[in-house]
Amino acid sequence: MKQLEEFTSLCRKTLVTVLFLSTFQGANCELLVSPLGPTIVSTLAGSNVTLAVSVNGASDPAITWFRDIIPVVTWTINSNSPPDIPQSSKDVLHLEKDGSLTFIQVPLSYSSHYTVEMTKSGLGKASLQFTLQVFEIIQDVTLSTPSGLAVEGTDRFILQYSMLQGVIEQQTWFFKSTEIKNSSHYLVQQTSLVILRPNRNDTGLYSLQLTNPFSSVKVYRNLTVFYGPDEPILKATPEKIFYVVGDSVSLLCQSDGNPQPTVEWVFNGQKLSGALNRVLDLTNLQTSQGGVYTCSLLNQMTNEKREKNVTLDVYERPPGSPVCSVLSVNNDSLLYECDWMGGTPQATLSFPALNNASRGEGHFRLILPASTNLNGKTVSCQADHPVQQNTCNITACNPKTFLPEIRATVDLDSKMVVSVLCVTEASPQAVVSWSNDSGAIANGTTYQISSDTSELKIRDNNISNLILQIFTCTCSNPLGSQARSIQLQEPSISDSSLFLNQDGTIITLTWDVPPTSVVTGFDIQMKGSNLINKNGNTSQTKSTSDGYSTIQQKPGSARSTDVFTLDPKQIYRFRIVPKARLFDGKPSVVHRIGPPDGLSGPAIAGIAAGIPCSILALLMVGGLIFLIIYLKRTKRHQTKYPVPRTAEKTITPAKTIQHKATPHKPLAGGLKFFPDSNRIHKSLSDRSVALPAFVPPPPHVRVATTV
Ligand SMILES: *[C@@H]1O[C@H](CO)[C@@H](O)[C@H](O)[C@H]1NC(C)=O
Ligand SMILES: *[C@@H]1O[C@H](CO)[C@@H](O)[C@H](O)[C@H]1NC(C)=O
Ligand SMILES: *[C@@H]1O[C@H](CO)[C@@H](O)[C@H](O)[C@H]1NC(C)=O
Ligand SMILES: *[C@@H]1O[C@H](CO)[C@@H](O)[C@H](O)[C@H]1NC(C)=O
Ligand SMILES: *[C@@H]1O[C@H](CO)[C@@H](O)[C@H](O)[C@H]1NC(C)=O
Ligand SMILES: *[C@@H]1O[C@H](CO)[C@@H](O)[C@H](O)[C@H]1NC(C)=O
Ligand SMILES: *[C@@H]1O[C@H](CO)[C@@H](O)[C@H](O)[C@H]1NC(C)=O
Ligand SMILES: *[C@@H]1O[C@H](CO)[C@@H](O)[C@H](O)[C@H]1NC(C)=O
Ligand SMILES: *[C@@H]1O[C@H](CO)[C@@H](O)[C@H](O)[C@H]1NC(C)=O
Ligand SMILES: *[C@@H]1O[C@H](CO)[C@@H](O)[C@H](O)[C@H]1NC(C)=O
Ligand SMILES: *[C@@H]1O[C@H](CO)[C@@H](O)[C@H](O)[C@H]1NC(C)=O
Ligand SMILES: *[C@@H]1O[C@H](CO)[C@@H](O)[C@H](O)[C@H]1NC(C)=O
Repeated sequence: MKQLEEFTSLCRKTLVTVLFLSTFQGANCELLVSPLGPTIVSTLAGSNVTLAVSVNGASDPAITWFRDIIPVVTWTINSNSPPDIPQSSKDVLHLEKDGSLTFIQVPLSYSSHYTVEMTKSGLGKASLQFTLQVFEIIQDVTLSTPSGLAVEGTDRFILQYSMLQGVIEQQTWFFKSTEIKNSSHYLVQQTSLVILRPNRNDTGLYSLQLTNPFSSVKVYRNLTVFYGPDEPILKATPEKIFYVVGDSVSLLCQSDGNPQPTVEWVFNGQKLSGALNRVLDLTNLQTSQGGVYTCSLLNQMTNEKREKNVTLDVYERPPGSPVCSVLSVNNDSLLYECDWMGGTPQATLSFPALNNASRGEGHFRLILPASTNLNGKTVSCQADHPVQQNTCNITACNPKTFLPEIRATVDLDSKMVVSVLCVTEASPQAVVSWSNDSGAIANGTTYQISSDTSELKIRDNNISNLILQIFTCTCSNPLGSQARSIQLQEPSISDSSLFLNQDGTIITLTWDVPPTSVVTGFDIQMKGSNLINKNGNTSQTKSTSDGYSTIQQKPGSARSTDVFTLDPKQIYRFRIVPKARLFDGKPSVVHRIGPPDGLSGPAIAGIAAGIPCSILALLMVGGLIFLIIYLKRTKRHQTKYPVPRTAEKTITPAKTIQHKATPHKPLAGGLKFFPDSNRIHKSLSDRSVALPAFVPPPPHVRVATTV
């Protein structure tokens, strides 16, 4: 600096010398002005300061001080007139005798560049420049934030300083004691620091150092950059694809922010009152609690909001199990149905084996044309529910072979009602069509068909009408049909037996009827001594022409009866007469009990008449053969049911009773019996245990008597 000044002044001297030499040849004087101190002067406001110069080379030159380019003092050295100073500056500016300029109690506003210029006629001009800096002690510096809150994401944030007084020579900003320089993030301006796009990392302690040659001040400011809520993280614990009714789950909503954001929970758009924690606990979940849970966050300082959704699926399995069925449609198609209603969500149902593309929810129907490959095919319905998978199976099949059943009753109007039942195993359930000789039977009063078509009820009191007709029932479903014909028979007994107790006082009669015979009841008839009443006297009943009297009447369902009290010393004969209302069928064989007949007079007479009797017997054998042929023919014509035993039968000898002690077996051939009939067989076997053992009769009793 000093060298530079010396160099300038040397140049100026040289220049002045050159000018002088060229203009005024022969003169040896030059005008020179030089500083007597530094040319850059710093001072405190209010103090006295002098810009001192010395002038050489000429006497009494004219002197002018300029402030910048405006002259503020003019004078000719050593003149008697006072220096010319503008009125406004008279209090401050004072020109010394040597031309130096003194500032008295210099105010701040006098900071400027000052130039002194000397002129002397004939000698030219010389000038010198000074810089005056007037300072003040820095006082009461404050930092302010004219841009308001510092919020992350805004464009800029300004930190500005102001002070009561002071002239700043240098300002330096620090963030966490690191000096801040102009950069892409900061702008250091005249009286402020601009933070461009402030973020959370700009939070911290800022300081500002202000200096001038007379003082230095440092101020601090803690700055908080508000931010958030950040993108929330919403997590369910335990985390599952879906929840089952009764489960528990807690939802945790995490999000950073300054200040920490407040939490509010919203379920399906409805605020959950009281749910203000980061964690929302849900216990014993119900399906109604399935839906969208929203965690709503608010930064209360910046009013910034954010929300995050989580969807909870709460499922419940449908009650029970899926149910499969198959129905007939238009007699040519099969309707496969699968039902599993309820639950959340509904189960998805399908019959993959039939059609793997279509499916239903809760209820599924599939119609397929009936074809033989569906017959007997077990089809599974696949029932898929998120909670459980299930199946149900259904098999469609054509009607199986069957045997019609006959039941005869007498209704309240004492009319006879004959029911024919055609029930077959089939899926879908078979529809039965009925016909007689003259064609299809229509539903009416005489012929009434049950609503499920499996039963035909015939109301006809004349048994002769009934046994003339052949009824045909056809069971059909879309997969096929089965037909059966049946011809009703008069009431008859196919088989009968008698059992006697040990004392010979009680008998048990059992019997059967052919499956196709129409029977509404039975008369139990007896011939012989009267029965003994409890009080010892005998009972008297009406007798038929052949000496039998009816001692009991049994309903059509009965297949056995007990008779008591008998006198073991007497001879009794029993028979069973089947009835169709008032019509009597052929009686059963006669069962005789009692002591054997002795060789009495009539017996001897009988033996004497043996030869004519043998002829009679031969005749009877012929008749029997004819009867057998006749029966065989009818059997071939009408039915596959077993042939009933001939009604004519010799009295069971007492000896054979024992062999028959076991109840007779059901008739062979897969026949179906009415439930009553089965029950009777059962009860009979029960009873055979209870009955006293039968005593074999003495060996000499071997006489069989024909009735
Ligand atoms: C400044 O100069 C004025 C007038 O000459 C004088 O009265 C005053 O005392 C001086 N002040 C200082 C601090 O020297
Ligand atoms: C920083 O840059 C601004 C504008 O570009 C300028 O006005 C200011 O003087 C610079 N500050 C510093 C310390 O360089
Ligand atoms: C803040 O600073 C951290 C660590 O220095 C950095 O990972 C993060 O990205 C910064 N955040 C921003 C918004 O610049
Ligand atoms: C700034 O914050 C720090 C820590 O919180 C504290 O110690 C310090 O006193 C604060 N400074 C000012 C100027 O507020
Ligand atoms: C959250 O779900 C609600 C409906 O329940 C919807 O209006 C909102 O837009 C969703 N918010 C988000 C962030 O997906
Ligand atoms: C149903 O169809 C079968 C043959 O596919 C047929 O035998 C039967 O008579 C039909 N039944 C009805 C009620 O149409
Ligand atoms: C559906 O059935 C067809 C033919 O039966 C078979 O080719 C296909 O792979 C099945 N698709 C599925 C998804 O099971
Ligand atoms: C249905 O049949 C499949 C095999 O065909 C068997 O695995 C399944 O247990 C059956 N489902 C039911 C309910 O019987
Ligand atoms: C066949 O049944 C019809 C009633 O549908 C009846 O009118 C007709 O007499 C019956 N045929 C015979 C031979 O009984
Ligand atoms: C026949 O008629 C009776 C009574 O009129 C009715 O209950 C029954 O359902 C009918 N049967 C059919 C197959 O329509
Ligand atoms: C019963 O029907 C037959 C044949 O149809 C007939 O000959 C007889 O007279 C009828 N009997 C009664 C009591 O109606
Ligand atoms: C049999 O006894 C009953 C009373 O127990 C009586 O009423 C009845 O007259 C008696 N019969 C004979 C034939 O004595």
